[in-house]
Amino acid sequence: MCGIIGYIGDRKACEVIVRGLKRLEYRGYDSVGVVTEEDGKLYIKKGAGKIDEVVERLNLLDMPGKRGLGHTRWATHGVPNDINAHPQKDCTGKIALVHNGIIENFAELKKELLEKGHAFESDTDTEVIAHLIEEELKSSGSFEEALRKALLRLKGSFALGVIYTEEPDRIYFVRNESPLVLGIGEGENFGASDVPAFLEYTNRVVFLDDMEYAIVTKDSWVVKKLETGEEVEKEVQTVEWTLEMAEKGGFPHFMLKEIFEQPRVLRDAIHGNAEIIRDVAREIANYDKIFIVAMGTSYHAGLVGKYLLQRLAKKVPFVEDASEFRYEFEDLVDEDSLVIAITQSGETADTLAAMKLAKKKGAKVLAIVNVVGSMATRIADLTLYTHAGPEIGVAATKTYTTQLAVLTMLAIELARVLGTADEEYLKGLEESLREVPDLVEGSILNLSEPLRELAESLKDREDFFYIGRGIGLPTALEGALKLKEISYIHAEGLSAGELKHGPLALIEDGVPVVAIAPNGKTFDKMVSNIEEAKARGAYVISIGSSEKLREVSDTFIRMPDVDEVLSPIPYVVPLQLLAYHLAVLRGNDPDKPRNLAKSVTVE
Ligand code: F6R
Repeated sequence: MCGIIGYIGDRKACEVIVRGLKRLEYRGYDSVGVVTEEDGKLYIKKGAGKIDEVVERLNLLDMPGKRGLGHTRWATHGVPNDINAHPQKDCTGKIALVHNGIIENFAELKKELLEKGHAFESDTDTEVIAHLIEEELKSSGSFEEALRKALLRLKGSFALGVIYTEEPDRIYFVRNESPLVLGIGEGENFGASDVPAFLEYTNRVVFLDDMEYAIVTKDSWVVKKLETGEEVEKEVQTVEWTLEMAEKGGFPHFMLKEIFEQPRVLRDAIHGNAEIIRDVAREIANYDKIFIVAMGTSYHAGLVGKYLLQRLAKKVPFVEDASEFRYEFEDLVDEDSLVIAITQSGETADTLAAMKLAKKKGAKVLAIVNVVGSMATRIADLTLYTHAGPEIGVAATKTYTTQLAVLTMLAIELARVLGTADEEYLKGLEESLREVPDLVEGSILNLSEPLRELAESLKDREDFFYIGRGIGLPTALEGALKLKEISYIHAEGLSAGELKHGPLALIEDGVPVVAIAPNGKTFDKMVSNIEEAKARGAYVISIGSSEKLREVSDTFIRMPDVDEVLSPIPYVVPLQLLAYHLAVLRGNDPDKPRNLAKSVTVE
């Protein structure tokens, strides 16, 4: 996830900016850049690599000027290199900006700007914004008006810091679906993606809301609405956080912060793939022999992908644990095969080995990856990014739900290309998918406290069972995995139908059974399975939207009513929260579970 810091005041801007960038380092990045301004001239230095290395290599602390912007880039469009690092400029070199987020319609805007004669240097979506402002400036009365007009043409998420040489006293900061906060000092002001960037100078902050921009000078600040240019009243708040708390956005652990980031990153995943998904779907539509390979949580995403492809595109993929695929499918994968590899890190050894095997056998390889430029993206023929930003907690949360969003979009688009589902239904699903981030934000994250209370009553249990059917089954498996890895409680995820073929023998008084029961094909069957478990004394926690579940369960976790095929995204969130609270209550550090590594680079 990119980090932005901007400064205007009497200090040497580059020093404040470099210190701020170091404070944002925890967000993850692959390149770094700074712009400062003095006497109407911009000084830009940027490059791929770690902050300390780039500071030394490019002499970042030797830049003149008392206003400037800095950026740590986590690549989304265009590989991590010196040219794609921010700041990006327009053709005149008078506008420099840094950006966090994803511009969904950048390809079409770039085409339009190229036709108008703009010359681009980078592959980024960000550079489009600089040229678009330059273009709007030709017909606007002021830079502010041009900025507003340009930004209103963008679809997607953006937090921006913008400098224009002809307005030497100010910096513009903008926020839409990507965080941006102002730091209010004495005779100096700041703007950043996160409070720690300037916390050593001031703890007085103003949080921008979506579709707002700020004009910040050294002694003043004003916030306005992007739509109308009208001024917005804003309260200056004082944060009492320590630096460590601030890095975690006030959350006690990165895992909880990442769970709470899901609405925003889901929006990014949806925006970021809106265009590319069509090309990818067309390119893979004719494959009938499909393998999905992945490990761990990504494997569970693969299982959801299987149900989505079956239900919507009428394709029947094999989902294989990548470590098994290598040996068991060696003779079966061939040039008629499509291999979809799902990996957040893009560096998991087993998944990479499966991909290499697939390539060797002539298969088409599509990767669904979070880390831009990772090994998986270099092996694959096609890549879709999940745009979740770096995940610091070892347990996958936001990278999983964004994988699901991408798979859902892919299945919808394949169904459209193949004509396997009604267009009205597909359109409705797309609309509902776009609403899922709001549902997670509005109706699910606020279950954290009730789930903590539930965890309090269950923290001494040593066995949990998670049951589901159909598209709910992978959610049960993922819920069990989350619990195992961070709380160290034994948990099993299984198909609810399997229960009475053996595992029911393990159910006795008070054993927690978590039932994933969205409305849909198998709802009634799930209710029967819940009753079976209850009759043996299980403590049933059901997750669903039907009130009927309240009658048959000990605890009912109410979900918003969504189409069953979309349910895996919202339904896993309470399971992440339950596992998190159980881990904390048992005295574990959920960010660093024992024996586990974030990226498993050995087989
Ligand atoms: C569990 C978890 C792991 C990973 C697995 C694959 O919370 O994070 O199970 O999902 O190691 O990692 P990636 O997706 O990086 O290939």
